[in-house]
Amino acid sequence: MDYQLLARAVCFSSAGKKLYLDLLSDNTLHIYHNPAHLSPVVGEVSLPARFAVEKAGEDYLFKTERFMMKVSSSLALTLLNKEGQIVFEETSPVPDPRRGENYSDIAALEGHPKVGEDTYQNAHYFTLHEDECFYGLGDHIAPLDKREYRFINYNTDYPQAHEETVPSLYKDFPFFLVKRGGICFGFYLDNSYKSLFDFGSDQKTYSFASEKGDDDVYLIYGPSPKDVVSEYSRLLGRAPLPQRWTLGNQQSRWSYANEEQVLAVVDGYQKVDIPLEAVHLDIDYMEGYRIFTVSSERFPAFNAFVSSLKKRGVKVITIVDPGIKVDPQYGIYQEAIAGGYVATFQNKTYVNAVWPGDSVYPAFNEAKVRAWWSEKIASFVSAYALSGIWCDMNEPASFKGPLPSDVSFGSAKHEEIHNLYGHYMAQATYEGIKKSTAKRPYVITRACFSGSEKYTTVWTGDNQSIWSNLRMLIPQEISLGLCAMSFVGSDVGGFNGDCPSELMNRWIETAVFSPLLRNHSSCGSSFQEPYRYDKLTIENYRKWVYFRYRLVPYIYDLFYEETQSGLPLIRPLFLEYPLDPECERIGDEFLYGSSLLVAPVVDPGVRSRVVYFPQGKWYPFNGGDALSGRVLQNCPLEECLIYAKEGAIIPLYPSLTKNLDVESDELVLHLFPGNGSFVHYQDNGVDFAYEKGEYNLYLFTNTNGILTYKMLHEGYKKYKSIRVVSPLGESVLTL
Ligand code: GLC
Repeated sequence: MDYQLLARAVCFSSAGKKLYLDLLSDNTLHIYHNPAHLSPVVGEVSLPARFAVEKAGEDYLFKTERFMMKVSSSLALTLLNKEGQIVFEETSPVPDPRRGENYSDIAALEGHPKVGEDTYQNAHYFTLHEDECFYGLGDHIAPLDKREYRFINYNTDYPQAHEETVPSLYKDFPFFLVKRGGICFGFYLDNSYKSLFDFGSDQKTYSFASEKGDDDVYLIYGPSPKDVVSEYSRLLGRAPLPQRWTLGNQQSRWSYANEEQVLAVVDGYQKVDIPLEAVHLDIDYMEGYRIFTVSSERFPAFNAFVSSLKKRGVKVITIVDPGIKVDPQYGIYQEAIAGGYVATFQNKTYVNAVWPGDSVYPAFNEAKVRAWWSEKIASFVSAYALSGIWCDMNEPASFKGPLPSDVSFGSAKHEEIHNLYGHYMAQATYEGIKKSTAKRPYVITRACFSGSEKYTTVWTGDNQSIWSNLRMLIPQEISLGLCAMSFVGSDVGGFNGDCPSELMNRWIETAVFSPLLRNHSSCGSSFQEPYRYDKLTIENYRKWVYFRYRLVPYIYDLFYEETQSGLPLIRPLFLEYPLDPECERIGDEFLYGSSLLVAPVVDPGVRSRVVYFPQGKWYPFNGGDALSGRVLQNCPLEECLIYAKEGAIIPLYPSLTKNLDVESDELVLHLFPGNGSFVHYQDNGVDFAYEKGEYNLYLFTNTNGILTYKMLHEGYKKYKSIRVVSPLGESVLTL
């Protein structure tokens, strides 16, 4: 065994194999075998960091300021902390008698081609320790701690119920965190092929592997979970600031049949006085599901219609699927074929089926196709003054059986870009919207990959109107957030099936904390706009949407914080309290930023629940004595349990702004007993002027109820006044 110092990396060689270690920052070690590997998503991310290589018996030690990596003569890795304690050890697969490893594979003996897990390459196995918890990996359905679960990352349109047995859903975030007591590290697998993650299903090892491609991994060493999340998002990219109105209440349905039906929805909302920021038009607004068209029968005066809604404060977002209908008379199809923009098989256009019937698939992984698509998006968005684009079916979905692995998408095969398809579509869509407007683009996608957060928000796809799907929303949104996808939401009320009123009440109480707030339902299920419900549900829905609107300054601040630190809005308790073992597995409450703790009821008939309060004192948001430890709390149907941390400062809008386009020049600061500080961000909430310094940054400090402030940055018009509501009484802060 030998090693060589290269310009950046160290190359270890043993028995004809090479292993490269490249220290990209104090936290991140890039571990690879092929120096020519081109990452689809990681850019130039290296920061200065110091290391040394030492011989240690038969092995080598790669020493950094935070950790040490032992490289054995078989090129197996052992991670040690600064004190020399083992954090992980790479090992070999351990036979699991429960899985019948004692038998030979008769398929192989009989000469069949290999199928299933045997086909995975690049496998890494690690010894499983008793104290390890596993987090992240995107949208998979599982408890918060995914220990002993196994998953396949292969973006899948999954229309049946989303339950824990589903191996793959729509998104691929090949990133997970491992926490051992106070030490946390993460692995990002830079590989877009189908991959397998097993977090100890054999109770002896945990492992990951990919089907093909390069064995290329980033190890991110914390040691705190915050360090891992922050560094991962530095490598992959962070969600940009959204337009303020996108934090408002949105309504969708597959499909509103025509202009009249959409107008009736807007009227319905208005009648019950629930704010509505946008309506989403699903596939039936098109002419026979031909993308970039509008049905002249259903929406005969689309421009006038969109602008009449805009006058009422309601924006229009349209769905655009990737599948292009095979129709020689249809301009988009003609352009796509003539330009060579679509997938092919054996040099012929590849056809499968989606909503329009037989369809062809743009090869979004090719730059020229993205350029074409973004032009189409730009003209479509400008032609109808649309406020956002909803990208769907981009796993990509295919109704005539799965897309074969060897279909060509330009220079790449389907198997390589499958998991990246939604990512590239979202990127091209984002770039298209950006061409057409000075505003911050608003894209929602179903499928995506690590790094997609730079371009798009996501929703969790076709859930059901069932209690288990409300329950899963919390660990699912937390897990996506740990993978830097913080702008996330679920179909409020559930997509498939009829949503009973109790479930709808509990759903809106939970979902007002989802960064994306959109009620959406499937055709065939009962309509689920809030105004169609009973009086109690309508009032409750209104109450919580009002609450959400008042909370927008805080939510927007969390987005700003996310751009700086990469920390998500919806946080698991362990992220803020990594040394408290109680916090490691709590998946039915969450922190919203670091100041609020939310414990919704997500079960039928339940009117009380136990809330766990991590370190310190926590105050009921609407007043009351401090709580700590584990406490049983009443939670009537119309309540969601919300607590503020001692010393918290929560910025709110003073009165109800029913249209988030309207900028408020007033702010209220709610101070809770104790000491604390909070950074508040203010800009126009619309465009990119903040990049030129047009924003304000206030540092507020709460000293036992007395507020002081400091301007950290002043580049925008300040509030006229700030009302301070503190345990000591109310006052006005003049800036
Ligand atoms: C997919 C989407 C769903 C949409 C439907 C029709 O199932 O996930 O949201 O309503 O397609 O476009």
